[in-house]
Amino acid sequence: MTTTPLLGGPTLPQRRELRTDLPGPKSRALLERKEAAVAPGVGLSLPIFVAAAGGGVLVDVDDNVLIDLGSGIAVTTIGNAAPAVVAAVTDQVSRFTHTCFMITGYASYVEVAEELNRLTPGDHVKTTALFNSGAEAVENAIKIARRHTRRPAVVAFDHGYHGRTNLTMALTAKVMPYKDGFGPFAPEVYRAPASYPFRDGLTGPEAAARALGQIEKQVGADNLAAMIIEPIQGEGGFVVPAPGFLATLASWAKQHGVVFIADEIQTGFARTGDLFACEHEDVVPDLITTAKGIAGGLPLSAVTGRAEIMAAAHAGGLGGTYGGSPVACAAALAALRTYTEQDLAGRARAVEAIILDELSALRDDPRVGEVRGRGAMIGIEFVDQDGRPDPALTTRITAAVHAQGVVLLTCGTYGNVIRLLPPLAIPDDLLREGLGVLRDAVRSV
Ligand SMILES: Cc1ncc(COP(=O)(O)O)c(C=O)c1O
Repeated sequence: MTTTPLLGGPTLPQRRELRTDLPGPKSRALLERKEAAVAPGVGLSLPIFVAAAGGGVLVDVDDNVLIDLGSGIAVTTIGNAAPAVVAAVTDQVSRFTHTCFMITGYASYVEVAEELNRLTPGDHVKTTALFNSGAEAVENAIKIARRHTRRPAVVAFDHGYHGRTNLTMALTAKVMPYKDGFGPFAPEVYRAPASYPFRDGLTGPEAAARALGQIEKQVGADNLAAMIIEPIQGEGGFVVPAPGFLATLASWAKQHGVVFIADEIQTGFARTGDLFACEHEDVVPDLITTAKGIAGGLPLSAVTGRAEIMAAAHAGGLGGTYGGSPVACAAALAALRTYTEQDLAGRARAVEAIILDELSALRDDPRVGEVRGRGAMIGIEFVDQDGRPDPALTTRITAAVHAQGVVLLTCGTYGNVIRLLPPLAIPDDLLREGLGVLRDAVRSV
């Protein structure tokens, strides 16, 4: 088995190797300390503690080598400690670590903005503002849309996830664990039905007509500043809307002067086999929010959009102490170069082919309701014999996979979807091995 990660990186064995049960003794000791020192609201899906990572593996403090099929929730798309990112960050921290871009500028912030303006969908004139987290980008996109339209209301969709801050909790659909007891939430946020072909059986235009009918009756286009939607829903269950759903919403928004915001925080940067998931449907959003894969693991997020909309916010109205930090910007420039120069969108499509091939044996299993997604973003929805969501089965399968040293995540409004988000730096044979572990777990549970 190869020992060189596909896109370079730390020389770690690119094979699964378990030296202890999971978690091992050193991870267990750290877990005890975590439980004493860290607020319990900050959970841990798989209680191992990482010492090194790269390519397709995580190495824990007990020297176990685990296969990574989660990329830290779609962040390390180009690989952990990707060499181009390490070099850029190392060089940057040795020169300066911070000025606050709102006080004194630096070139890399401007360069990241230029790159995002160039790479995001649409050839209209765009500008960009940088922030730290995905939720912060979403908050700012809504601020900008409200100031531009001078309207208060915002529509988000069933199964949507946009973050854990107050406004983004309001935009997020699922109450547990994201919202329960944390209200009251920001006002003037309305929810419309999404497109979930496996569960609603509607075509894209039918699902859009249902949503728009509800929006017109319950909100009114004249009150609506923005609609925000993930082109493929992430936390909500890797739900790919029926063809035409997004395009119908976008064209209605345009007709009514409503800002159409694509939240590509999870889908962005080659993850779905194109640089952005909107491109599959030729949808050009007015504003796009990005984060996660943007900077190879450093915290950075962005709002990019039509220059005339972005110009609505006055000087000083956007920003923050750390937003677009020089270290994160250096990382982003290296990561963005890697995406385009190494055709990582093509690599995501190759990963999709491997995943579908390895999972094809599960298609006859009646508990597998649907395998869906695009590129290196594939979900498996598990159901019981009546076709109802089966979160208990999903949890058992996930636990069995974790015990075998493969890191994968679940998602879904009903908690019944296993999501595959491997780093694109994972060697093919390691990816196949990880998927084999998943396949065996599904059969044995
Ligand atoms: C679609 C989407 N929007 C927003 C967010 C929030 O990003 P962050 O956790 O960086 O605040 C996420 C995170 O998972 C996401 O998937």
